[in-house]
Amino acid sequence: MAKDYIVKDIELAAFGRRELDIAETEMPGLMACREEYGESKPLKGARIVGSLHMTIQTAVLIETLVELGADVRWASCNIFSTQDHAAAAIAEAGVPVFAIKGQSLEEHWDYLDKSFLFDDGPNMILDDGGDATLYILFGARMEAGEDVIAVPQSEEEAVIKAQIEKRMKASPGWFTKMREQIKGVSEETTTGVHRLYDLHKKGQLPFPAINVNDSVTKSKFDNKYGCKESLVDGIRRATDTMMAGKVAVVMGYGDVGKGSAASLAGAGARVIVTEVDPICALQAAMDGFQVTTLDEVVSTADIFITTTGNKDVIRIEHMREMKDMAIVGNIGHFDNEIQVANLKNHKWTNIKEQVDMIEMPNGNRLILLSEGRLLNLGNATGHPSFVMSASFTNQVLAQIELWTKGDEYQPGVYILPKHLDEKVARLHLDRIGVKLSKLDPDQAAYIGVSPEGPFKPEHYRY
Ligand code: NAI
Repeated sequence: MAKDYIVKDIELAAFGRRELDIAETEMPGLMACREEYGESKPLKGARIVGSLHMTIQTAVLIETLVELGADVRWASCNIFSTQDHAAAAIAEAGVPVFAIKGQSLEEHWDYLDKSFLFDDGPNMILDDGGDATLYILFGARMEAGEDVIAVPQSEEEAVIKAQIEKRMKASPGWFTKMREQIKGVSEETTTGVHRLYDLHKKGQLPFPAINVNDSVTKSKFDNKYGCKESLVDGIRRATDTMMAGKVAVVMGYGDVGKGSAASLAGAGARVIVTEVDPICALQAAMDGFQVTTLDEVVSTADIFITTTGNKDVIRIEHMREMKDMAIVGNIGHFDNEIQVANLKNHKWTNIKEQVDMIEMPNGNRLILLSEGRLLNLGNATGHPSFVMSASFTNQVLAQIELWTKGDEYQPGVYILPKHLDEKVARLHLDRIGVKLSKLDPDQAAYIGVSPEGPFKPEHYRY
């Protein structure tokens, strides 16, 4: 049979498998899903397109989906985040995967296209950042004659448009057919979730979507504790810079910003936060961080990290003011938080993979990480397995819900019920030796909950 995968080097499979074996011991939620659902195979018949960083942890997710009965094809959602040994292990196990660390943007969108090519087409999407969903919905609208990307606003938009046009020419009507076949999508991250709510508001979301990000056991753990470990990991692997004593600016103090500030502070940096939301600004101040504007500190700080999910946060005029050898990076989903496009006409010296030194007109040099793409996955290996187990257990439960009960949902964006959120947390307690206290019936009645949970009302914010 012709090979149905694109990976850097299939010979890396044995190394990938050894790391997968270790990761499984740190992913109790996913392993519990295999035990609970491995026999009944609730995902039988599901043909899932996955568009999510192709890491070791994702490999454990993929093998869990397969064990639950699904057919899976996979692409990464970022050009720098693939771990080539993880991709090789998955390809060797027989799952079609299309992902290489350092692939071009053209390859990225071509690989996403390839992940849709099941014999009978897919019927589910598991997305991170919304690219797989956007590809199908934009394509279907273009097939209907709408010029969705009339004037591309970035290099990436031009590539997306070209890829959609290529597919439309090769298979007329393909996008519309895909859109009709998809029963649902589960979305991993804040930025993808914003896109889904926006689509729904405009009446452009044709199927139900589960917002995995806003499970408490996702955003309050992966975004926060995950970044707390992986941000400094990325900066260190990229630069080996001494963190203690440096002044680091964290832009945004949401879940990712909280983890990022804690990461830098834990490494001994003096952390300054910028925010637009008074609540998050107050939280940062009361967590002990100076809160001010980027303009105030841009010429004196050493390290700049964006975490906002917003665009144009570090602009070219900021970078012109930074001091020599300032380190600039982003941990939000997309690269448009930093105006990297405006640096293209400067002198770039590549130091090593995903680390560039850029000469500014005044002679100062900047160290730019992962060309402004999320640096914890570009310069390091992303979050540790344990926290990804919580995120991905939510993904598995979301896929089961949409595949088995999707017909009961109207198009829209939903969150998993709290009892499942609590279940995900519960599955991760034993591994780290947590012993839960129990409510007696009297106490439970006094605070108005059942002794088995849920333990909090919907409006509780954790
Ligand atoms: P969030 O919405 O909780 O936090 C973003 C914060 O940035 C908000 O508090 C907002 O007020 C603030 N903000 C917006 N514009 C700003 C500006 N111009 N200046 C200063 N602050 C500004 O979102 P969350 O969950 O923290 O996610 C942030 C980004 O990180 C998203 O793109 C998300 O998809 C991504 N993400 C990345 C992960 C990774 O491993 N690299 C993991 C999880 C999420």
